[in-house]
Order: sequence, then C-alpha cells, then structure tokens
Amino acid sequence: MPSRAASPPPDPRSSRTGTRWRPPPRRSWRTLARARHRQEGTRLELLDLARIDAGHINLDARPLCLTALLREALDDQQPSADTIGLTLIGGLGAPLTIRGDTSRLRQVIDNLLSNAINYTPPGGTVAVTAEPADGGVRVRISDTGIGIPAEQLPHLFTRFFRASTALEHGIKGTGLGLAVTKAIIEAHHGSITAQPAPGGGTRFTVWLPHTGAATGA
Ligand SMILES: Nc1ncnc2c1ncn2[C@@H]1O[C@H](COP(=O)(O)OP(=O)(O)OP(=O)(O)O)[C@@H](O)[C@H]1O
Ligand SMILES: [Mg+2]
Repeated sequence: MPSRAASPPPDPRSSRTGTRWRPPPRRSWRTLARARHRQEGTRLELLDLARIDAGHINLDARPLCLTALLREALDDQQPSADTIGLTLIGGLGAPLTIRGDTSRLRQVIDNLLSNAINYTPPGGTVAVTAEPADGGVRVRISDTGIGIPAEQLPHLFTRFFRASTALEHGIKGTGLGLAVTKAIIEAHHGSITAQPAPGGGTRFTVWLPHTGAATGA
C-alpha cells in the first residue's frame, strides 16, 4: 500500500475546511455550546461598553498581586494552549503589587491572553512577562502569531475593528474585547499599546501604576 504523507491536524479555530466541497455538517451540541458561549461573551462586552459610555465602570480597587493574577490566568489558559499545540511561557519574577480591581484586571489579562492564543497558529509560542517600570508594573504579552499589519495598529482599540490578517485566516471574533480592555486599563490610569513582536507576531504592552484606581472610579 502506498504510504501517504501525514497531513497536519485541522486548526480548530479556522472556519476554512479546505478546497474540497463538503455538505454542511450537522451542528453538534459542542458547536452550539461554543456559539452560545461566543454570543454570551459578545453580550457581556456590549453591556460593558454601554456602562463605560455612561461613565459607570465601577471598580472595587484594593491592593492585589498582579504576578499572582497573571500566573492564575496562565494556568487557566494552559488546556486551550495544549489543545491547539501552543507553548505558554510565563516570565514572572518576584510578586508585584498594585491597587486595582481583581476581576476587571483578570478580564484584561484573559482578553489579551485569549487573543494571543486565538491568533497564533499551532506550534507557536505565547510569552508573558511582568516587571517594575516607571512607578508601576509593565506587562508584556507577546505571540508568534499571524500579526497585525503596521498601518492597522492605530485602529486596534476601535470597537468592531478586525485586522485583515484575522479575516484572511478565517478566525472568528467580534472586535470588542480590546475596546473593553483599553477602557478598564484607562480606568486604572494605565496604558496599553501594541507593536509587531520581534521575530513576528504581536506584542501588547500594558502599564499599570502602583496607585491604580480609586474605589468606585
Ligand atoms: N494577538 C493578536 N494577534 C493578531 N491579531 C490580533 C491579536 N489581538 C487582536 N488582534 C486583532 O485585533 C482585532 C480586535 O481584537 P478584539 O479582541 O477586540 O476582538 P476579537 O478578538 O475579534 O473578538 P472578541 O470581541 O471576541 O475578543 C481582532 O479581530 C484581530 O484582528
Ligand atoms: Mg479578542
């Protein structure tokens, strides 16, 4: 029997199934659950943006360990990374404390980490570092993924914006996560920027001041 070259496993995130026509698959409960999960995520992001527009982004600000928050988020994303075949690297040193809202900052980290995982093809790497900088903490989330064309970077935090690379790869998304992420960081008096990562992919840099947000900001 002639040997056949092994083909790589299909990327579970891509809506593309190859060039051969196939009948539309029956939607399994897993597909429906994923679609429902995505719809729920979009509904919550729209609610967050409505609150932000109305000036009601309530923060429960307390001293928190950002390093521990990053470590927890990395642990929680490990199964997704394993499923896709990505390496997650945490370059986290000594505990770094800031004042902020734990669940809102966890939302920020989850959005950035899930983007890095979502937009990086199998075999790639996602790395997270945290270090003291300028009276606060600088967090970098870098990936070796599909990247964002430099001329599109200024639009990245605009609602519903989707980069051409994501569309070309057929990766689904609504373009809301980064708008919410930026609003939460700014409510903490911090900043977020995106650059092409050295060696390909994208790097997001978040800076949060030690003093962070006042309660109820
Ligand atoms: N790490 C990344 N690598 C490449 N492209 C990215 C990355 N992060 C974000 N993008 C691009 O920025 C766009 C906006 O990201 P954002 O997180 O706001 O929305 P989304 O991922 O499309 O959907 P969702 O609202 O569900 O998060 C994405 O659609 C994608 O084109
Ligand atoms: Mg996203």
